[in-house]
Amino acid sequence: DQITGLSPAISIEQRTTGSNPRSTVGTVTEIYDYLRLLFANVGIPHCPSCGQEIKSQSVERMVEAIMTEPVEERVNVLAPMVRGRKGEFKKELAALRVKGFTKIRIDGRLLSLEDEIHLDRRKNHWIDAIVDRLLIRSGAERRLRESIEFALSLSDDVVIINTNGGGDRLFSRRLACVECGINVPEMTPRVFSFNSPHGACKDCQGLGVVEDFDPNRIVPDGSLTLIEGAIRPWMSGDRKLDKDAKYALGKLSEKFDIDLAVPFRRLPRRLRDLLMFGAAVINRKKVAPTASRSTKKTGRIDRLGKDFEGVIPNLRRRYEEGNWATQEALESYRSIRPCSACDGERLRLESRAVSVNGLSIADYVKLPISEALEGFERLKLNDREALVADRVLREICDRLRFLKNVGVGYLALGRGASTLSGGEAQRIRLATQIGSNLTGVLYVLDEPSIGLHQRDNQLLLSTLARLRDLGNTVVVVEHDEETIRTADYVVDLGLGAGEHGGEVIFQGSPDELSTKGDVSLTAAYLCGERMIPLPRKRRRSSKGCLTIRGARANNLKNIDVSVPIGLFTAVTGVSGSGKSTLVNDILYRVLARKLYRATDVPGQHKLIDGIDLIDKVIQINQSPIGRTPRSNPATYTGLFTYIRDLYSMLPEARARGYRPGRFSFNVKGGRCEACQGDGVIAIEMHFLPDVYVTCEHCKGRRYNRETLEIKYRGVSIAEMLQLTVDQAMPLLENFPLIESRLRTLQDVGLGYVAIGQSATTLSGGEAQRVKLAKELSKRSTGRTLYILDEPTTGLHLEDTRRLLDVLNLLVDQGNTVVVIEHHLDVIKTADYVVDLGPGGGDEGGAVVVQGTPEKVSEHEKSETGKYLKRFLLH
Ligand SMILES: Nc1ncnc2c1ncn2[C@@H]1O[C@H](COP(=O)(O)OP(=O)(O)OP(=O)(O)O)[C@@H](O)[C@H]1O
Ligand SMILES: [Mg+2]
Ligand SMILES: [Zn+2]
Ligand SMILES: [Zn+2]
Ligand SMILES: [Zn+2]
Repeated sequence: DQITGLSPAISIEQRTTGSNPRSTVGTVTEIYDYLRLLFANVGIPHCPSCGQEIKSQSVERMVEAIMTEPVEERVNVLAPMVRGRKGEFKKELAALRVKGFTKIRIDGRLLSLEDEIHLDRRKNHWIDAIVDRLLIRSGAERRLRESIEFALSLSDDVVIINTNGGGDRLFSRRLACVECGINVPEMTPRVFSFNSPHGACKDCQGLGVVEDFDPNRIVPDGSLTLIEGAIRPWMSGDRKLDKDAKYALGKLSEKFDIDLAVPFRRLPRRLRDLLMFGAAVINRKKVAPTASRSTKKTGRIDRLGKDFEGVIPNLRRRYEEGNWATQEALESYRSIRPCSACDGERLRLESRAVSVNGLSIADYVKLPISEALEGFERLKLNDREALVADRVLREICDRLRFLKNVGVGYLALGRGASTLSGGEAQRIRLATQIGSNLTGVLYVLDEPSIGLHQRDNQLLLSTLARLRDLGNTVVVVEHDEETIRTADYVVDLGLGAGEHGGEVIFQGSPDELSTKGDVSLTAAYLCGERMIPLPRKRRRSSKGCLTIRGARANNLKNIDVSVPIGLFTAVTGVSGSGKSTLVNDILYRVLARKLYRATDVPGQHKLIDGIDLIDKVIQINQSPIGRTPRSNPATYTGLFTYIRDLYSMLPEARARGYRPGRFSFNVKGGRCEACQGDGVIAIEMHFLPDVYVTCEHCKGRRYNRETLEIKYRGVSIAEMLQLTVDQAMPLLENFPLIESRLRTLQDVGLGYVAIGQSATTLSGGEAQRVKLAKELSKRSTGRTLYILDEPTTGLHLEDTRRLLDVLNLLVDQGNTVVVIEHHLDVIKTADYVVDLGPGGGDEGGAVVVQGTPEKVSEHEKSETGKYLKRFLLH
């Protein structure tokens, strides 16, 4: 009813990884926003053309600088009118005469404007009007200031001061290169944003990459000749050269003397460019077609001669003009490449020419976070700079330090957020909220340990402890034993899950909780009364191995890894060590290609041996089981089909002639038509996400009145969908097909989930277990490979234990199971462990050790082994 003693609160929720290509580590953590502020305030602009530093100065500063010259020094104030341009400049000279000027400097020579002046119009000239000549002495400031201002007004805010001792010096009142006359934009934060038109590179709109037709995809096999169809888009469906293309080739080969019987890659560079980019390209290089004279005379367009468009410009045009289907068809010839205009740095040239301590903002985001931190810690601001940028710099350093402390110092701020590994993304998100050193705040974190290796988790826990010591309150929702033991105070809720929970069972210190083994499951595991037992003996491989050789995608260092057939293998290693890359990007994709002709391109590797030892591969990941509220565990696992059958067999249903379809909310008949079976109605809110309101007609029950009249043991079909798996079990256990599916849902720890809970509300871990349940209810082939990436995410130890039982059952049937796991209770039960590392990112990607858990625990370089030891004792 009431919460008292509340401080300002920050709540950090679970994974929501964006896949926006504009998000980077820097933008997600907001460090990039502070960097932009820093650069806008203390950055030093340089001329994008000549690279010289650009300074703008007030007239006052210019006067001060000049007054430091020795007394009696002669000073000329000049207004530059023409700077290295060709022409006679008669008009300009006449204008100066009209304004009353008498002296002028042309190409370094002093001339009188009263004389006739003839300039060679083919040469470059420099013309400066002489505004004033004066001597330095006290009291000259006022005249100097007026002359400078006059000169600035004549020549676009630039003035030349010439003295005997110092020669010419250029001053500018604006941010402009005095040499090249190039203006640079005023320095505001948005100039450094690649998400703003003021900062973004024009060619790639700030993405750093461009998608365009790729010669390597257009000619995938350079050993083919043109006639054999080297140019893939010129082939027709039946793998023959297209008729029109054949005609065009004939003409082109005549005009440009192209040998059609030579492998494409052996053709001279010039001809390959001609075919790819068109005749315009080689005309520029002054290579005219052999028969060009006649065509030139007629002036007609010669599409297969001098005006040949080129394959790539042609494809670009068709792509731009084409409809959706055309674009789809041409997509396979395109690829993503770094933008050449900005070198992949996303920003326009002017923005990249601004530096702080010698590095541009683009340079900083390429550095590993730990190096960038060192750079900023060393940065010395002068008084003026400190005034505007001290806070900003502190904020940057605090956040970078946080990232380094939680173990991702090897990442660069410019890394795309969508390419981060699970554990990296997890910590990046934390940095956003707790990266700056606030005090007096209440932080609420939902399972921060998810996806973290024990080592990374300890780094995180010590960071949380520091946060507490700064005077904050930290509340963590967590299953992780280490976190519970580290806490100052534990609140244990229970007893069961879902319906059976919701009560406070214990509050107090973790030590106290672990003496009360009988009160709750948490306590039982804490004091070791309950635990996941070590397997009595480990299985040994007798059926050979799947061996990945020469894996080098992402950070993998050309490694060989074996997965024994018929065993339970755990792939381990600190976050970012390369586990997902190895297992999902290489192993799974290769097998899916071989076994199912899937099209995803596997990560780089040499080959995989032993594929013939399996006949099926199943990857069970954490993506949603469906994106609409219409899918749910019952529909996804096939359970709902049998439940509908059951309802249609009831005497009342048969009497009315209801068939199974009557009990579906996806087709007309039995469902509520007002909401078309959704139970809710979406109301469109302009500029806001849709709002869902419960359907008035069926009151959210999704079915019409007649359908709901059919009841099985007093339960309508709508009520059935609202029951949890555990609640439905006693009602339905007499129907073997239904019972076995409910049982598998229980086995994977989903007893508490309503069978009709909509897919959109299931967590990633729950979705993964629903998928697992579906796979389990199929007959296994006994030669299947199951791949799971962190299946214990969000699971309590009790549920983890059940999950392991299920996985072991699969292995006992002869199948092979590979799990990527951080959970030491899982790793200790594996038959075989592949430990990657030793670190994350570039510091990882090698095999530290592979073998039994015992072998891993004895390996001194293995971070996993270090923590695993304790778990192997009992
Ligand atoms: N597209 C990419 N471009 C560059 N680096 C990438 C890309 N994808 C992944 N990486 C990097 O490769 C390394 C290995 O990533 P991977 O996802 O395999 O790690 P992991 O061991 O599964 O980590 P976690 O335990 O956090 O899931 C990470 O440092 C990651 O940032
Ligand atoms: Mg991973
Ligand atoms: Zn310049
Ligand atoms: Zn660009
Ligand atoms: Zn309705």
